[in-house]
Amino acid sequence: MMYSEKVMDHFANPRNVGEIENADGVGEVGNPKCGDIMKMFLKIDGNVITDVKFKTFGCGAAIATSSIATEMIKGKTIDEALKLTNKAVVEALDGLPPVKIHCSVLAEQAVKSALADYYRRQGVDPEPIVGKI
Ligand code: FES
Ligand code: FES
Repeated sequence: MMYSEKVMDHFANPRNVGEIENADGVGEVGNPKCGDIMKMFLKIDGNVITDVKFKTFGCGAAIATSSIATEMIKGKTIDEALKLTNKAVVEALDGLPPVKIHCSVLAEQAVKSALADYYRRQGVDPEPIVGKI
């Protein structure tokens, strides 16, 4: 089978889809390989990500990876969310076909882009913290 059961589950029933009205950070990234786009919304209280939602104009793997990525960072600290790698996302889904690995990069970058936006809104240069997006 090409896709794991977890991928199929997150594709069919994506978690945390939507927008957050008064988000504290909003990230938008595009995938240069396929042209897909993803938007990520974060609610941050102190140092903790209390809520997260996403929207994607992307493929099934992009939906599944962002869905599980939102579950992996919800309730976590910013530091923990910054450590989320696309590799961890792929592992949490029990793998992805090689041609779909780049889709998981979109999820990781959307989280980082939203955190960068959060720091910018605080008047803090995000690059030393989040890195280049
Ligand atoms: Fe966009 Fe994958 S190429 S759906
Ligand atoms: Fe475009 Fe998956 S093929 S994000």
